[in-house]
Amino acid sequence: MLIDLTGRTALVTGSTQGIGLAIAAGLARAGARVGVNGRTAERVAAASDALRAELDGGDLVDVAADVTSAEGAARAVELCGEVDILVNNLGIFGAEPALEIGDEEWRRYFDVNVLSAVRLIRSCLPGMIGRGFGRVLNIASDSAVVIPIEMVHYGVSKTALLAVSRGFAKEAAGTGVTVNAVIAGPTHTGGVEDFVYSLVDRALPWDEAQREFMRAHRPQSLLQRLIEPEEIANLVVYLSSAQASATTGGAVRVDGGYVDSILP
Ligand SMILES: NC(=O)c1ccc[n+]([C@@H]2O[C@H](COP(=O)([O-])OP(=O)(O)OC[C@H]3O[C@@H](n4cnc5c(N)ncnc54)[C@H](OP(=O)(O)O)[C@@H]3O)[C@@H](O)[C@H]2O)c1
Repeated sequence: MLIDLTGRTALVTGSTQGIGLAIAAGLARAGARVGVNGRTAERVAAASDALRAELDGGDLVDVAADVTSAEGAARAVELCGEVDILVNNLGIFGAEPALEIGDEEWRRYFDVNVLSAVRLIRSCLPGMIGRGFGRVLNIASDSAVVIPIEMVHYGVSKTALLAVSRGFAKEAAGTGVTVNAVIAGPTHTGGVEDFVYSLVDRALPWDEAQREFMRAHRPQSLLQRLIEPEEIANLVVYLSSAQASATTGGAVRVDGGYVDSILP
């Protein structure tokens, strides 16, 4: 299967590092013009420069904007122009005892992880429908289904994102526009190595350390290692393509088998 996204414009929120950066790289490699997004011009420029070096070119647009505000979201869309592929990747997470998560923190998680995605969908979907093609991918998590006791607010926000995906897929029914959630599993992103080494023997080389970590602390994983960001990006690139035209309203898993369920 040859995926060619030439002529498509993508906006990937929160793409100066981690999974977002890998998704931006994957989409650009497939030929799309990609809006690289973060909160500051410096971080965005550093990410897009690194991508240009990695890809030996690449059509990248610097999108410095805080997409958690209505103004920032509007500026992001304006900088990209017509968005054909919207990847709502931005998401915050952090451990907090369930009984100590206050109203403000619950609202912050809803604002950043759910409402910022909804706002961008509202802004981009009509244009996609008018042009008869569009892809919306909302990056959810295994935590949407397996609610972690140490991150109940995070899990709930990701569950909501699954519902958002299904709901807006209905809004786009029969138009050539698809809307899906991607259930990402435990991924090898920045900071994760320190976290792993805080729980396993520091003398172990990385490969063994992550396997030991998965065995002891993430035994549900069938992959038995962390997922590389590029592996998440591969699914997003496919779902962004013309070839993925019959997949919509779904929650598609790239979780290393972490969620113990036959469906989806
Ligand atoms: N990591 C995992 O194991 C894992 C597992 C399952 C799902 N996920 C999901 O995957 C997504 C990405 O996770 P990650 O670990 O790769 O994230 P990350 O490393 O924490 O990166 C967050 C990105 O978001 C940007 N950002 C933060 N606030 C922003 C704002 N208000 N406006 C615009 N950009 C903003 C940051 O850029 P600046 O700092 O430059 O602004 C950065 O590029 C999240 O939705 C997460 O829930 C992650």
